Parts: sequence; structure tokens; C-alpha cells
Amino acid sequence: MVSDYFLDNNDAITPNNIFNFVTIIKSYKMNNKIAHLFNIQYPIIQGGMIWCSGWELASAVSNAGGLGLIGSGSMYPDTLRDQIKKCKMATNKPFGVNVPLLYPDIHKHIEVIISEGVKIVFTSAGNPNTWTKTLKDNDIKVVHVVSNSKFAKKAEDAGVDAIVAEGFEAGGHNGREETTTLCLIPLIKKIASIPIIAAGGIGTGRAMLAMEALGADGVQIGSRFVASEEASANINFKNCVINSKEGDTKLMLKQLTPVRLLKNNFFDAVQDAENKGVSIPELTLLLGKGRAKKGMFLGDLDEGELEIGQVAALIKEIKSAKEIVDEIILEYKQAKEELLSSNR
Ligand SMILES: Cc1cc2nc3c(=O)[nH]c(=O)nc-3n(C[C@H](O)[C@H](O)[C@H](O)COP(=O)(O)O)c2cc1C
Repeated sequence: MVSDYFLDNNDAITPNNIFNFVTIIKSYKMNNKIAHLFNIQYPIIQGGMIWCSGWELASAVSNAGGLGLIGSGSMYPDTLRDQIKKCKMATNKPFGVNVPLLYPDIHKHIEVIISEGVKIVFTSAGNPNTWTKTLKDNDIKVVHVVSNSKFAKKAEDAGVDAIVAEGFEAGGHNGREETTTLCLIPLIKKIASIPIIAAGGIGTGRAMLAMEALGADGVQIGSRFVASEEASANINFKNCVINSKEGDTKLMLKQLTPVRLLKNNFFDAVQDAENKGVSIPELTLLLGKGRAKKGMFLGDLDEGELEIGQVAALIKEIKSAKEIVDEIILEYKQAKEELLSSNR
């Protein structure tokens, strides 16, 4: 039996012992750079997500053996402090905060994170040179999200501990180059010497295994956790995600800030405007303020901005974060056994 790379356990999952899988999963030992870096059981990160990932989701994922991240991008500094405090009460496992660096009051967020003793920060959407040193000087592990190898190199040079390589399939804001996860991981693998966390299009154990085959050390998952019981997303949005089909999302607003959107009235308005070639100020006006909150948090499925990844077409049920993590790990393990025994 060949030992796992993501997970170090030699128990094969067979029809005879499958009923016992929970015990088997619980016995997995960490044998993986990302699991070691964060002192977690499985190298599964729940991506920070505006309006969707508060303390309930982050603590549930951490309690399930992954790493939960509070998405601070939609929070005022006081809200973030409150969310961190609640997360600390809800789990004694490691958790982190995602900080989009373009946030206007970013220094206040950083102050809250440091003063609350958060030990893991995932930065995104900005220059990794700006805050990495401050965070590291405060004994915080820093990971930066990138969408191409140039930014991966920049993040590594800035001193981050790991990189999230996020491909074109992903929900949320996205790279202009449209590089898919399948191409991005090997490209970044060539130039980076720090651990790589693959993101974009991963919602199953088989996808997690595929990322391992490409050279990733862990996975970051967003969309699948939007359709979780603990996500703070509005139930209308969660239902919309589980009812969505192939082709229902598209990368829009490439001139402004590229974002993958679910098709609705707002999407149509953006598409019309882009087809007419309107100016950036006009697009900004169309986007207006509070669109993402309106759609994802308040549940206006027509006029709100609905951010989700291509993998939404595979998500068919709202489940608890623990069920999602357990299911991914079980499928990962089974798929690996299958592959190793060529029993397909
Ligand atoms: C609704 C939504 C909101 C997101 N918000 C953020 C965010 O605030 N900061 C960030 O770095 N990434 C954000 N992301 C990206 C996720 O953290 C994650 O990298 C991505 O969803 C992974 O791809 P997947 O959707 O295919 O799983 C968001 C994704 C979604 C679906």
C-alpha cells in the first residue's frame, strides 16, 4: 500500500470497512506541508468570502478538521472584532481571517487582527509587500492569493508562508488572464518554492486528488461552502446555487474588477453595458454600492450581485460544513485507492 501524500493513513476503504469510515477518517494523521503549517487535520481551507463566511462557517470548518477563514472584506472593523471573538468561543482549533488588501480601512482591520491574537491571515486583492512584514513580525502566518505566476513570485519574495493559486473557475474576484486552475498550478509550481494551495473549481474529493497530482499541497474551497448550513449567505442565494447548471456563471466586469457572476437581471445589465463598450465610470455607476450585499446577504436574486464559481453546477444540496469536509475526505480517499489499484 502506498502511503498518502495529503493524508497519512494506510487503511484502504473497502466495501467491508466503509461503514467505519468516520473512525478511519478521525484516525488520519497529518503528513502534509499545509496541515503542518496550520496545525490542522486536513489540508482543506474554507476560502474567505464576503457576506458568506462569518464565524459560524469558519468555526464549523475548523471544528471539522479543515481551516476556516472569516471573510473580513464585507465587515466594519468592529464587526470583524466581534466575529473573531465569537469564533474563538466556538472553536479551540486554528482559524484565520481573509483580508482583501484593497479594503479602504485596511489598517484598522490589521489592528483588530493583531490585537485579537489571530495567528493566520490570508491576504488577497492587493500588494503582498504592504502588510506581510507587519503581520509576520506579530507572529502571524501569512498566505497570499494569486492568479498568475508573476504575482506568486512577488508574494514569495514578500515573505509569505504559502500561496493560494486561484484559477479562472473560481467564485469571487478573479484574474484577468483567465488561467484555469489546471494550468495555473503547474505554472506556479515551476517558480515557487513555498507550499501551494489550489483554488478554483474544487468541490469534491476527486478534485482534491487532482490538485495533489498537479503538485498542490492543499486546497481552498469557496463555492461548495456557500451552500452550507453555517454560511451567512441568504437562503435564497444558497438555493440559487444548488439549482444552478453548467454555463450559469460567467466572468464579468473585466475592465473594472473581474468577478464571476451567476446570471440574473443585474448580470444582463452588465453584459449589455459591456457589449455597448461603456466607459469604466459608467460601469462603476451601474455596479453602484451594496450590490453584493443585496444579492448574497439580503437575497435579492434579480438585482443583486451573485458571486459563485463554475463548480456550483456540481453542488446539489445544502449540507453542514462537517458533512462537506467528511464527504470530500472520504471521496478523496476512495478515489486515491481506486487509482492506485487501477480499479476503475
Ligand atoms: C461568494 C464568494 C465571495 C468571495 N469573497 C472573497 C473575498 O472576500 N476574499 C477572497 O480572497 N476571496 C473571495 N472569494 C474566493 C474564495 O475565497 C475562494 O478562493 C474561491 O471561491 C475558490 O473557488 P471556488 O469558488 O471554485 O471554490 C469569494 C468566493 C465566493 C464564492
